[in-house]
Amino acid sequence: MKICVVGGAGYIGSHTVCELIDAGHRVIIIDDLSNAAKSAVHSEASFYNVDITDSRALDTAFKVECAAEPFDAVMHFAAKIVVPQSVENPSLYYYNNVEGTRSLLETMVKNRCKNIIFSSTASVYGETETGVCGEETPTKPTNPYGETKLAAEKMIAWFAKAHNMNYCIFRYFNVAGAHRSLKIGLWHENITHIIPATIEAAIGMRERLIVFGNDYNTPDGTCVRDYVHVSDIAHAHLLAIDLLQKNRSEIINLGSNRGFSVKEVIDEVSKRRPVNFEYGNRRAGDAAKIVASNKKAKELLGWSPERGLAEIIDSDLAFRQKKAKIG
Ligand SMILES: NC(=O)c1ccc[n+]([C@@H]2O[C@H](COP(=O)([O-])OP(=O)(O)OC[C@H]3O[C@@H](n4cnc5c(N)ncnc54)[C@H](O)[C@@H]3O)[C@@H](O)[C@H]2O)c1
Repeated sequence: MKICVVGGAGYIGSHTVCELIDAGHRVIIIDDLSNAAKSAVHSEASFYNVDITDSRALDTAFKVECAAEPFDAVMHFAAKIVVPQSVENPSLYYYNNVEGTRSLLETMVKNRCKNIIFSSTASVYGETETGVCGEETPTKPTNPYGETKLAAEKMIAWFAKAHNMNYCIFRYFNVAGAHRSLKIGLWHENITHIIPATIEAAIGMRERLIVFGNDYNTPDGTCVRDYVHVSDIAHAHLLAIDLLQKNRSEIINLGSNRGFSVKEVIDEVSKRRPVNFEYGNRRAGDAAKIVASNKKAKELLGWSPERGLAEIIDSDLAFRQKKAKIG
């Protein structure tokens, strides 16, 4: 099939592109490289360096690719994703994540593209009573990042109704790990994701890890999250293509049903390398516990994560050591 991957040079997008190409699909990547390197663009994919908020440039790319046939599916990974930055600069997040999605949807409609798979987030749930989220859990984001992803979700559902489109909205929980080739993984300056940040502290890429708060209402006082390997997330996207072909529209959690505290992550990394860390203040917008119920993903897609926390940490550690040339 012919699949457009928007944000396909980014962390999760590039892993999904690998899975798609390995499965024999034709892939067209659209990415403005605002948070990715050109080297992350798969050599077997077509590539357009386009900002999705630039509707005219986006439409030009779609016109070229969809002249004969529309895309079988559009996978939309492109977003600004840093929670504290969204608290400081909500305008950037509303423009990129909401207006960017509107521009993409409008372009899809103009070019007869009916199927969208959207990367949403567990942040749409915010602080819940139990911290365990099913898709029916009320959405109450606690930061602009989560608000903009929820606004995009709702917009997709309204476009689908108006224009007879199908959507699969995936709410990812915490995504981590690297590709088995160790060629791609999460690699940025000032990484805020807890697993790579902990590993950076363990292999000397940062002086120490600051844990944002140990006074939450959790067993050890640190925040609890649900971690999923990036290749498991990528695989779910391939399964979603089949769901869309059946004219289904769904919102589906991609999580593991299991939470680990930040301290438990540090302990797991410490089994491999000692971690230099200290406790700091809470960070704006963080909920105490966010763990998925992944029942729906199992039922509808036959999906559950194949890799656990130890494999996630092993793969990120191996990737980071290779990339930083640390033995
Ligand atoms: N990483 C996680 O743990 C996580 C968790 C939940 C949800 N998500 C969602 O998954 C998606 C992908 O996240 P990621 O971690 O791979 O992030 P990422 O920043 O690595 O990837 C996003 C990609 O989109 C591109 N992009 C951003 N704005 C763009 C624009 N206006 N036009 C064109 N390209 C643009 C960036 O250059 C980047 O390559 C995001 O939508 C994010 O909200 C991620």
